[in-house]
Amino acid sequence: MGYAEIHARSLADPEGFWMEAARAIDWTRMPSKALFDERAPLYEWFADGELNACWNCVDRHVEAGRGGQTAIIHDSPVTQTRREISFAELRDRVARLAGALARQGLGKGDRVIIYMPMVPEALEAMLACARLGAIHSVVFGGFAAHELAVRIDDARPRAVLAASCGIEPGRIVRYKPLLDAAIEQAAHRPEFVVMLQREPEPAHLVPGRDHDWHAFQAGADPAPCTPVEGNHPAYVLYTSGTTGQPKGVVRPTAGHLVALHWSMKNIYGVNPGEVFWAASDVGWVVGHSYICYGPLVHGNTTVVFEGKPVGTPDAGTFWRVIAEHRVRSFFTAPTAFRAIKREDPAGALLKGHDLSPLRALFLAGERADPDTIRWAEEKLKVPVIDHWWQTETGWPIAANPLGIEKLPVKVGSPSVPMPGWDVRVLDDSGREVPPGTLGAIAVKLPLPPGTLPTLWNAEERFVKSYLSRFPGYYETGDAGYRDEDGYLYIMARTDDVINVAGHRLSTGAMEEVLASHPDVAECAVIGVADELKGQLPLGFLCLNRGCNRPHEEIVRESVALVREMIGPVAAFRLACVVDRLPKTRSGKILRSTMAKIADGQPFRTPPTIDDPAILGEIAEALKALGYPRT
Ligand code: COA
Ligand code: AMP
Repeated sequence: MGYAEIHARSLADPEGFWMEAARAIDWTRMPSKALFDERAPLYEWFADGELNACWNCVDRHVEAGRGGQTAIIHDSPVTQTRREISFAELRDRVARLAGALARQGLGKGDRVIIYMPMVPEALEAMLACARLGAIHSVVFGGFAAHELAVRIDDARPRAVLAASCGIEPGRIVRYKPLLDAAIEQAAHRPEFVVMLQREPEPAHLVPGRDHDWHAFQAGADPAPCTPVEGNHPAYVLYTSGTTGQPKGVVRPTAGHLVALHWSMKNIYGVNPGEVFWAASDVGWVVGHSYICYGPLVHGNTTVVFEGKPVGTPDAGTFWRVIAEHRVRSFFTAPTAFRAIKREDPAGALLKGHDLSPLRALFLAGERADPDTIRWAEEKLKVPVIDHWWQTETGWPIAANPLGIEKLPVKVGSPSVPMPGWDVRVLDDSGREVPPGTLGAIAVKLPLPPGTLPTLWNAEERFVKSYLSRFPGYYETGDAGYRDEDGYLYIMARTDDVINVAGHRLSTGAMEEVLASHPDVAECAVIGVADELKGQLPLGFLCLNRGCNRPHEEIVRESVALVREMIGPVAAFRLACVVDRLPKTRSGKILRSTMAKIADGQPFRTPPTIDDPAILGEIAEALKALGYPRT
């Protein structure tokens, strides 16, 4: 069966399609049906089935005689170490960690925050939670204490599993002081912390609260897998929304495993036993789906890479990893390739690396620009597949399904909707627009398995954020169009979310931080185009009347404040002081007009603008910062 037939079948007969896919994983109780639509427009999949995610990702491969196969390769240029863990070892390690957590009374439904860098123990922590039916929430290491505290208060974890430090090129990121500060700031108190002490920066342990990772597990009995209902949350992953309060995306256990298992062969084209590498971070959705659960549920070897595309030690690192570990399918963000291309435009560092095992490169996280795609195709000589997805969806909405058939690649498009995705492009009134016309991209409900059924503790916000604007549809927050052949083109966000180096960030959250500066009366943050990172945040600050402190000083403090409150990952370095912000007569700040001026794009002065002269002032301020770039 070809793609078109498979996609059509998935929409015409979702029950048949997904129940068949569900048979690829192990259940302790098979679900009676696939879709549960009794609470529409809230949907669930496989709700009355029973299964365990850790069993499916680890134990069953051992039971099937594949215990000796490598499950995890840890390749860490920043520590200059390499380590392999087989499925049998992984089972033993995870069962012991789960046993130690269970000994502390942790069990099904309890939340656990994981704050760790790219080490195998991060995956073991996730799988140990899954083994017990506990719900993990991984927080990316590049977030600062305040962001961690917000997540602690929302998830209300009983435990935190953390590492003492992460290693960034040129600096050690001490996680422990950030964690201590976050626990201090949070209203909720986790009962205990389990700390993986890492060279070069072991941490001080708080007596009575903090345990050493290894001592904590000493003498613990291995825990068995606890079966959970199909709709039991496997994890909560926070992502940026339009405000400073992140959205807790809930991932249901069964749909997640079924969809990921389906995608490994059909989209990524790998067979069990082969090596799959997603160069992302466990703190992001790509890390959850395609470093941890996806490859493991499908019996692939996954690479946990602790390094950067450039500088660890050079722009040839990716090629070394692919060659050395015989990576079949590789997934990263376009920004990583832009970084490599900038350092080594001729691809000289490819020399000497045997990349023949590689069958395809997958790009996602941001729009893949045609230059980057063409460069990657030319250098790697494999198909370069742009595909589109979101934290909310957990797996690709649109892709080129290499394992089914390779559709013609259209540069600039992430290709076509995957099974279960009924994607429509709508105008403001919710009517479908013809091919080639820009509109809001929405998905007709129900969404397929694996996607978010709700937001953690925030069902109303879920309905309001995603289901209200176009009744009967999920609003993706992306705008774009579809061509005559049904290929999608994802052009921009329709909200205040920007994409910096493949990381999704909220300009609203940065504005909240800037507004807390004592001299700032009002502010606006926009995303400006950046050659390397796709976008960068840029802040406009209006100061309180009477404030006569030097502007450079306030800008410097504002930059430091965003770093301190949100974290280095925000990459907030550009800001300027202006007298006033351009607004509509009703008071809405004209952020997109300012972004167009910064990017040197043509723009129309909105007829509702309060005072058009302000746009000239904004252009002057941007010019002083070097925008638009020529
Ligand atoms: N823990 C602590 N700090 C972190 C971190 C982590 N896990 N990850 C990033 N940071 C910090 C960096 O050290 C940097 O800090 P600095 O301001 O002191 O330099 C800041 O956050 C920004 O980091 P990053 O986005 O990595 O930018 P960079 O300039 O260091 O590197 C790239 C640029 C393109 C090489 C890098 O962004 C990259 O590899 N991107 C790929 C992104 C990706 O895989 N995304 C996943 C979505 S699919
Ligand atoms: P995240 O939730 O961090 O994965 O970010 C999801 C957002 O990243 C999407 O809503 C898009 O705006 C953007 N995005 C992800 N993949 C692509 C892609 N292939 N092309 C264009 N934009 C993308």
